[in-house]
Amino acid sequence: MQSSFIDSYGRHISYLRVSVTDRCDMRCVYCMAEDMVFLPRQDVLDFDEMERLCAIFINRGVKRIRLTGGEPLVRRGIDGFIGRIGRWLWSEHAPGRLDELTLTTNGSQLSTHASALAEAGIRRINVSLDTLRDDRFEKITRRGRLDQTLRGVGVARKAGLAVRINTVAMAGVNDDEFDDLIRWCGEIGADLCLIETMPMGETGEDRREHYLPLSDVRRDIERRWTLEGQPAGVAGPARYVRIAETGRRLGFITPMSHNFCDTCNRVRLSCTGQLYTCLGSEGATDLRGIMRAGGSDEDILAAINDALTHKPMRHDFLISGGNGAVQGPARHMSVTGG
Ligand code: GTP
Ligand code: 5AD
Ligand code: SF4
Repeated sequence: MQSSFIDSYGRHISYLRVSVTDRCDMRCVYCMAEDMVFLPRQDVLDFDEMERLCAIFINRGVKRIRLTGGEPLVRRGIDGFIGRIGRWLWSEHAPGRLDELTLTTNGSQLSTHASALAEAGIRRINVSLDTLRDDRFEKITRRGRLDQTLRGVGVARKAGLAVRINTVAMAGVNDDEFDDLIRWCGEIGADLCLIETMPMGETGEDRREHYLPLSDVRRDIERRWTLEGQPAGVAGPARYVRIAETGRRLGFITPMSHNFCDTCNRVRLSCTGQLYTCLGSEGATDLRGIMRAGGSDEDILAAINDALTHKPMRHDFLISGGNGAVQGPARHMSVTGG
């Protein structure tokens, strides 16, 4: 069954990203400001509210849900919530059955949660990791510990979870490490995905300084590695090749240099119940307000459908070189988890 959510450009929306918390135990330089102020707890949806919204999406044909944050695994009770959403993977009914539940995490809490994720039916996770060097890790995450994330990745692999490492490519920060990351991912049996930095929210860093177009990176990687054609994969922003020497996939997410908006199948729900139909624009629809005012599922559904009529054709991120313009939404990436 195709999703019954369709936007005004004919794109079927079958993928929902749910940010379960805006909090995080790290402060990555491209994502958050050092002195982030987090939301008061009463603003954040409780798990019943979140599940109700997920159910509305799933019952109308959303097939894939990715849980994000902030850092999803720092929210208390998250394993139970994941188990609740995971039940839709085994649902008997075609509308109302999820094909996939996934998670994006910084890995710091993975060693204690990996087995619960696997039991809930999660098969693959994305782990953010920009460097394999201790000193750089501390600088980039401002307060993370590399050994903790590496241990988490190891436990996740042992629990049978497929892992994709997400690396935000930053000029002058980690651009000499891609070979090491490719090799290491080969050793642990993980895919690697390189990501262009997107200008979202004030982080105290100049976005232009570290912006690195991935087309240049790819050309450089091709000098030393054999990149083979695009294997069939699930739709999404990442464009994959296979690295012959390691047998693993290498993905490129290039919103800045080459956007993928024409095939966009996704919307995102923040932890306060705001529905964002595009990562790169400001507009949001307040589903929490409708829910807390006593609105019915039909009221919520009507608001979702209305929001979809305003889903923009494409994002309007911009980073120009030199002293050029930087353009992106004022909200931080951690509000919607990407
Ligand atoms: P799949 O669910 O397998 O497609 O993974 P994903 O790549 O969407 O998920 P992940 O959470 O690992 O995000 C990786 C990067 O892709 C992050 O930097 C996200 O911000 C970015 N991303 C995800 N969806 C979109 C999108 O619709 N537009 C843009 N511009 N970036 C996105
Ligand atoms: N640009 C690109 N990717 C980002 N992420 C966080 N902030 C940014 C940004 N400004 C990545 C994280 C994580 C994923 C959800 O988004 O590294 O892997
Ligand atoms: Fe936390 Fe992820 Fe943002 Fe880093 S990128 S501060 S790990 S939410």
